[in-house]
Amino acid sequence: MAILPLVIAPDERLNKPSEPVKVVDAKIRTLLDDMLETMYANNGIGLAAVQVGVHLKCIVVDIAVREGQNAPMKFINPEIIHHSDEKTRFQEGCLSFPDQYSDVERPSSVTIRYLDETGAEQTMEADELLATCLQHEIDHTNGIVFVDHLSLMKRDMILRKLKKAKRMGLIHELPEGAPV
Ligand code: NI
Repeated sequence: MAILPLVIAPDERLNKPSEPVKVVDAKIRTLLDDMLETMYANNGIGLAAVQVGVHLKCIVVDIAVREGQNAPMKFINPEIIHHSDEKTRFQEGCLSFPDQYSDVERPSSVTIRYLDETGAEQTMEADELLATCLQHEIDHTNGIVFVDHLSLMKRDMILRKLKKAKRMGLIHELPEGAPV
């Protein structure tokens, strides 16, 4: 396993949709393990492959780390097949937006379809924090980041702050054009 460098906003790679995984093989399983290790190392609860510069529809989630436990979940080619009309607000952050948080309103519950590590198709229902987290990560696979759900003013403010932090060398990131 390896801790991978993160892509930090503003960065065009985050806005590019990912490709579906064609074959679930050892390479994909290693990627998912590395993504989990990277997520834990950065105290995150979710991570999409695009955030480590790989444009494949893979996401990992672990919301139990908040309670000091481990319940890693891995999803390949995840998609939302149903969402509730009811909505909830959660304060969201993102490992590609260090130290930036904002409330985002999303459907309270979702049903997703995905492939597991063996390549088998699965569905899962989720609500509350897990539903929000899955929607946030699935957004990433479609080139959408959480600030895209905010007002233009708020979004620009966050991106300006990160641009400045990058300029000042405060952020360690995956260099553009780096081999992945
Ligand atoms: Ni994120």
